[in-house]
Amino acid sequence: MSKHKIALLALLLTAAGAAAPALGGDAARGAVLYKECAGCHAAQRTLMGPPHCGVVGRKAASVEGFAYSDALRESNFVWDDAHLHDFLTFPIMNMPGTKMGFAGMFDENDRNDVIAFLKEQRSADSPMCQPGADPAPPPGTNAGELGGTTPAPTHVTANPITPTP
Ligand code: HEC
Repeated sequence: MSKHKIALLALLLTAAGAAAPALGGDAARGAVLYKECAGCHAAQRTLMGPPHCGVVGRKAASVEGFAYSDALRESNFVWDDAHLHDFLTFPIMNMPGTKMGFAGMFDENDRNDVIAFLKEQRSADSPMCQPGADPAPPPGTNAGELGGTTPAPTHVTANPITPTP
């Protein structure tokens, strides 16, 4: 192989390597990471945050009846990869005034994977987004659809301070 060809090969390999993070994320890994979001976001239900069904490709702040911040309401964009990366990295810095009380997801691969999860499992045609697929958990439980199986406390510890006669 000539020196030229080796140099060209090296260049191509470098380019392929650099392009790798931009490729689609890992939705299965994203499902695990999404537990960080699931305390506030469900597929179809409104929790602290708006429902996520169809969020990728949706206009920001467009869920009817959700009390968005003025910041998000006045933003004028559609949630695509670039806006999601920007917002999720550091919500309160990158969208000053947002109500989303989430510290941020600083790792680019993590964000890629969560975004892949949103595209795959929260697209309007995904199973969780069909009518009746996202029922509220029974009262007293904290079970999100993604394995939030924290059991409700069965008893409250009695006040240990017993008044002495
Ligand atoms: C502490 C609760 C909380 C957590 C955790 C949280 N969010 Fe949010 N999220 C919100 C709230 C509240 C809003 C509405 C923000 C506003 O109005 O400024 C929101 C808005 C959003 C929006 C805009 C939706 C729209 O309709 O325009 C996206 C996208 C989003 N969150 C994604 C995520 C992702 C992904 C995660 C996990 C990495 C996450 N959020 C974690 C509370 C949360």
